[in-house]
Amino acid sequence: MIRRIGILTGGGDCPGLNPAIKWVVKTALDKELAEKRGSEFEIVGLKDGWRGLVKYDHSRHPVLPAGREFGEDDYARILTEKEVRTWDRHGGTRLGSSRTNPFKEGLETWPQVMENLAALDLEVLVAIGGDDTLGIGSKLSEKGANVICIPKTIDRDLQGTDYTLGFETAVNVIVEEVDRLRTTARSHSRVFVVETMGRYTGHLALAGGLSSGASFILIPEVPYKADRLVRLLEERRDEGHRSTIIVVAEGAVSEEGEMTQTQASAADGFGHPTLGGVGKRLERILEDRTGLEVRSVVLSHLQRGGVPSAFDRRMARQFGIAAVDLIDRGEYGRMVVHKDGRVSSIPIPTDLKNVRKVDVAGRYDAERCCARFTVFD
Ligand code: F6P
Repeated sequence: MIRRIGILTGGGDCPGLNPAIKWVVKTALDKELAEKRGSEFEIVGLKDGWRGLVKYDHSRHPVLPAGREFGEDDYARILTEKEVRTWDRHGGTRLGSSRTNPFKEGLETWPQVMENLAALDLEVLVAIGGDDTLGIGSKLSEKGANVICIPKTIDRDLQGTDYTLGFETAVNVIVEEVDRLRTTARSHSRVFVVETMGRYTGHLALAGGLSSGASFILIPEVPYKADRLVRLLEERRDEGHRSTIIVVAEGAVSEEGEMTQTQASAADGFGHPTLGGVGKRLERILEDRTGLEVRSVVLSHLQRGGVPSAFDRRMARQFGIAAVDLIDRGEYGRMVVHKDGRVSSIPIPTDLKNVRKVDVAGRYDAERCCARFTVFD
C-alpha cells in the first residue's frame, strides 16, 4: 500500500527549510524502513505554503510527476530522493512560501484546505513554519487533519522548543556583517547602529549582539531609554573608544512605548505590521545629541538569505527524521522540538501566537543596555 505525505513551507523563508524537506523525503522513502513498517510512502511537495492548498483544484491541477519544477499553475509535485539529494546545501525553500492565512476572518478558506488534503489523498501533512504557519497546522489538526509540525524561524520565538531552524544561520550573518562594520567604524571613529529582525522578541538581536561583541544590545523585552544611550556613548568617547557597535532588534520599544514600523506598513495575512526603522531613528537621536558620527545599517533579509549553517543542516536533518518517526508511529498532531539538548515532540501548542520572549530577569542590565555575564538562552 502506498501512503501519501504532503509537505509545505510557510511564512518567512530561512536557511534550513530545504534540508528539512530533504530529510523528510529521504527518511520516508528509505527502503529498509518501508520494509519494517510494511508500507511505502510517496511524498507530495505543495507550493507556496497554505496558499497552494487553498488554490489547488483537483479538476484542473494535476500532481506533477517526479523531476518537474512548479509552473505558474501547478500546486503539487512528487518529490523523490534523487531530486532532493543536494537540497541540504540550499537556502530558501524550493517549495516556495507565502503568508496566506486560511482562517483569516471574512475569507475562511480552510474548508478548501481540508477538501484538498482529501483530494490529494494525503494521509498526513508535514508543515514547516513559525507561529503563524504552525498555528494553522494546529487549527487544522483540531478540525481532524493529520498534521506534523517542524519549527522554523530566525526569530526563535516559538514556544515549546529551544530551537527553530534558521536561527543560527541568521546569527552568523549578523556576526559577519558586524565584523565588517567594525573595521570601517574604527577607521572613521563612528558609531554603527545595526538593526536586526526578530519581530517582537530579542533572541536574534541578543545572540547576534553577544556573538559579535556589540557594546549595547536593545531588545523588545526591555524598553530602551535614549537618554541613557546618549550618556553611555559619551562615556565611551571619554574613555577613548574610537568606535561603538549598537545592535538593535527591529521590535525594540522606546521607554515611551513606541515601536517603529516602516512607512509602507501593510499588514500581512496574519495582521503583522512590517517592523523596521528603529536603527534610523536612533541614528538621528544619537548623532544630534552626542555630536558623534552615527550610521545605521538594516540587515533585513540578508539574515534570511544564503546557505544554511552547519548547525541548521544538522538540526534540519534531525527534525526531518523525527517528523517521519512520528508518522511511522501514527502520532499525529505533534510538533517536533529541541528541548534540553535533545530532539523530541510535543502536542502542537494551541496558542502559538503567544510567542516565547527573552527571559531577562536578572540577566539583562537595563542600565548598560546589554546582557550581564550570565548564560543567556
Ligand atoms: O518572522 C521572520 C521575519 O523575518 C521577522 O523577523 C520579520 O519581522 C519578518 O519575518 C519580515 O517578514 P517579511 O519578509 O514578510 O517582510
